[in-house]
Amino acid sequence: MANAGTAMSSSSTSTTAPLVVEHAAEHDIAAISALNNLFAPDGLTLPRSEGFVTAHLQDYQVVRDTDATVLGCVALDEYSPSLVELVSLAVAPSAQGRGIGRRLIVAAEDLARQRGFPEIFAVSLADQLFLSAGFRESNIDVFPEKIARYAKISRSELSIGRKFCFARQLRAG
Ligand SMILES: CC(C)(COP(=O)(O)OP(=O)(O)OC[C@H]1O[C@@H](n2cnc3c(N)ncnc32)[C@H](O)[C@@H]1OP(=O)(O)O)[C@@H](O)C(=O)NCCC(=O)NCCS
Repeated sequence: MANAGTAMSSSSTSTTAPLVVEHAAEHDIAAISALNNLFAPDGLTLPRSEGFVTAHLQDYQVVRDTDATVLGCVALDEYSPSLVELVSLAVAPSAQGRGIGRRLIVAAEDLARQRGFPEIFAVSLADQLFLSAGFRESNIDVFPEKIARYAKISRSELSIGRKFCFARQLRAG
């Protein structure tokens, strides 16, 4: 089964490969978990087991290389009918800088819009990426559900959130 290691060492990764975002499939699960977890030690993503990804597969989207290697992933974390977070945004180091991260953000927004969410938020250190994608700076304090859910898990993740929280309206008005 594919994994992030093969994603990063893939010699077929090409700058001309089409950047198509697709719904994740069962054969992507191990690669998604491995890619996401690559950045967890630095606090950039929260660790996600293959079991977690399996249980939430319908919320994940991926960009694959021409050989089906997962180059990037993103997910929605739905808190309530009116609140959703963009999470697990990760692009394999060898594929970064090609616009995949931005495509994944747009795809996550589109899926959230299709599901009827009025707004989407994200907690990230990638400030320019989110601002250039149309998000505005926000404050984690306006999302108490996020604070409540993660307070028991990671204090460092919360402290990051207080500094770098972004949100975007998905509905007019
Ligand atoms: C953040 C990340 C997803 C970006 O993926 P990517 O495919 O390299 O991003 P793109 O190629 O779409 O970059 C789009 C723009 O965002 C900028 N950008 C990319 N990563 C950035 C970062 N970490 N901080 C600030 N800006 C960033 C790029 O410079 C680019 O700007 P440009 O269009 O003016 O050149 C990727 O670096 C990654 O996986 N990082 C580790 C995990 C992480 O931080 N995830 C975010 C958690 S929400």
